[in-house]
Amino acid sequence: MKFFADTADTTAIAELHELGLVDGVTTNPSLVAKSGRNFLQVIREIAGIVAGPVSAEVAALEFDGMVEEGQRLAEIAANVVVKLPLTLAGLKATKYFQSVGIKTNVTLCFSANQALLAAKAGATYISPFVGRLDDINLDGVQLIQQTRTIYDNYGFGTQILAASVRTPNHLTEVALVGADVATMPADLIRKLACHPLTDAGIQGFLKDWKATGQSIL
Ligand code: E4P
Repeated sequence: MKFFADTADTTAIAELHELGLVDGVTTNPSLVAKSGRNFLQVIREIAGIVAGPVSAEVAALEFDGMVEEGQRLAEIAANVVVKLPLTLAGLKATKYFQSVGIKTNVTLCFSANQALLAAKAGATYISPFVGRLDDINLDGVQLIQQTRTIYDNYGFGTQILAASVRTPNHLTEVALVGADVATMPADLIRKLACHPLTDAGIQGFLKDWKATGQSIL
């Protein structure tokens, strides 16, 4: 399973990269706005930090604009993936980008039928939003599971990128049902390593080790 960092914070991405915990990055317009930085510059920097896929989202809502913006984004670096909304125009643009060999991430997916359409359009990644479905009392993990079953039934190669993953439990659950990738905030990725029994165990071992009076080096 691949881990993508869902952030436009280049410092956080560089730190995760050093830890070897990040396989790629996803951004969206809200995350770019939060960074307060120039979009194209941020994407260029991120694409230079991680070798894996970096999703950059178009702002246009019509096919022609999506194609123009997507081409511009794809020119930034070879690892840039064009992120497109799951609309009819977005699906048409997905098909276009597939035909010219540009990778796509179809975002804002909230139903299994939408995920099926993205796969038929040739999306590289589909992003079902787990947390936002949970927010309205629906079941985000179930959508990942349904998408997995449908893609496996028909042998679609589109990768399931579980998005809006906000808690450690979300991650465990999407991993159990077979998501190919999970994209998460940087602090959540770091939090996955934490366990109170690990901390307590370290303290206990350290105390006993000191009592031996030995040193390894
Ligand atoms: C995915 O690509 C989105 O950027 C992201 O996962 C949305 O997460 P949120 O619902 O927590 O904003």
